[in-house]
Amino acid sequence: MRLAPDGSSYLTSSSRRDQTEALFSLKSYHVSEELGFILPDPLEELPPYYQPWMDIALRIPELAQSHELRSRINKMPLLSSNFLQKHKELRLAHLALSMMTMGYVWEEGEKDTVEILPCSLAVPYWEVSQRLGLPPIITHADAVLANWKRKDPDGPFNMENLKLLVSLPGGESARGFFLVTLLVELAGVPAVKNIPTVINGVRCGDTEAVARGLEIISRSIEDMTDALKLMQVHVDPSVFYGIMRIYLSGWKDNPCMPKGLVYEGVQTAPMRYSGGSAAQSSLLHCFDELLGVKHEPKSASFLIYMRDYMPPLHKKLINDISLQPSLRSFVQQQDRKDLNNVFDLCVKKLLALRSYHINVVSRFIAVPAARARQLRDQNHNSDGEMISRAPTALEERGTGGSSIMSFLKTVRDQTKDTLLPEASREIKHHS
Ligand code: HEM
Repeated sequence: MRLAPDGSSYLTSSSRRDQTEALFSLKSYHVSEELGFILPDPLEELPPYYQPWMDIALRIPELAQSHELRSRINKMPLLSSNFLQKHKELRLAHLALSMMTMGYVWEEGEKDTVEILPCSLAVPYWEVSQRLGLPPIITHADAVLANWKRKDPDGPFNMENLKLLVSLPGGESARGFFLVTLLVELAGVPAVKNIPTVINGVRCGDTEAVARGLEIISRSIEDMTDALKLMQVHVDPSVFYGIMRIYLSGWKDNPCMPKGLVYEGVQTAPMRYSGGSAAQSSLLHCFDELLGVKHEPKSASFLIYMRDYMPPLHKKLINDISLQPSLRSFVQQQDRKDLNNVFDLCVKKLLALRSYHINVVSRFIAVPAARARQLRDQNHNSDGEMISRAPTALEERGTGGSSIMSFLKTVRDQTKDTLLPEASREIKHHS
């Protein structure tokens, strides 16, 4: 057995056969062959007992618009969560209760938030969250991974043939935002499926398998970037910034709700949770761990905290990938040009995805935020301008309350530092 530079072991070909049992596989992580982290065929309906929830959840945009959502939720009966049994029932319940909670808290904007979530919502929401191991707030696992249906079940997985199960205010842009994010997840499926190929290749010293796996991963990451480009086709930045964004915000490090939110009937002290973000998607976390991207401590602590907002088995997968022998050290030790190139190709594709994402965040947050500030400074009569209705408290801040752009740029730069020494020099030289 050979030792990797970090002290972990690679298997020589003679010991490969004995290790088949120990092969890394995605079987026990709730990851689907076809859809990766996406929940396959989410349920559209709960048992009839839960009709009072669904009656409201399916009408959130219109009830929020007419300012009736809070009063409808206040009148909702307290239902037992005991009749929810299957995983998919729990996921739909979590999605519906999450969307209702976000609507309830943010219906009147940042100036008139609530301190208490009523027990008819808070108690079952807490119970369902506990059973799923998810926080009692909207997550990427709800709004994206478990919130889709194909209109024609035999038709393609594309924008035309997809619809949301539950939505938030924002009309077509809300639909576009969640479904484009779903398509980004879908584009990442070949990458997820090939993580075991790479890990097992490293373990067995099979450089061909490692190269093959990395090649597919790099293509899949490129496809994710292409899917992300659909955001500008399907989402209007002023609708995203002026209407939708507040509904995704949480009550942790949020100046409009400094104490957090009391979940009535659960506990008397307020609790703080971060809002929904694709930083909770498991994909990039897996790639970072596989490729050995080392984040700077502050960014790392935010990203690791985001893992608490993922389904527990997805979080476990990320952690288990991090425990494998280092791929980067393996590649360096082999010192084969083709392997070096394909490893760097993966890192470059991840870098390109992060760079494009920064571009998206600039278009959807930084530019509208600057415009909103400008309107305020000019004391503009803002009634007609959607973006000036956006919450000022969120202007510069992301989910974790940090300055968004510097966080994203640090994360991108740490990705660049993962390139193998020679390639890293070239890229730094050109950037
Ligand atoms: C209009 C579209 C989008 C906007 C405005 C946006 C905004 C943001 C913001 C503000 C952050 C900083 C952390 C936070 O506040 O939560 C962030 C992080 C992140 N976003 Fe997005 N995002 C968008 C779409 C997406 C999509 C479709 C994905 C892909 C799944 C994605 C993946 C990530 C990841 C992985 C992070 C963590 C930082 C990193 O690992 O590079 N985002 N995003």
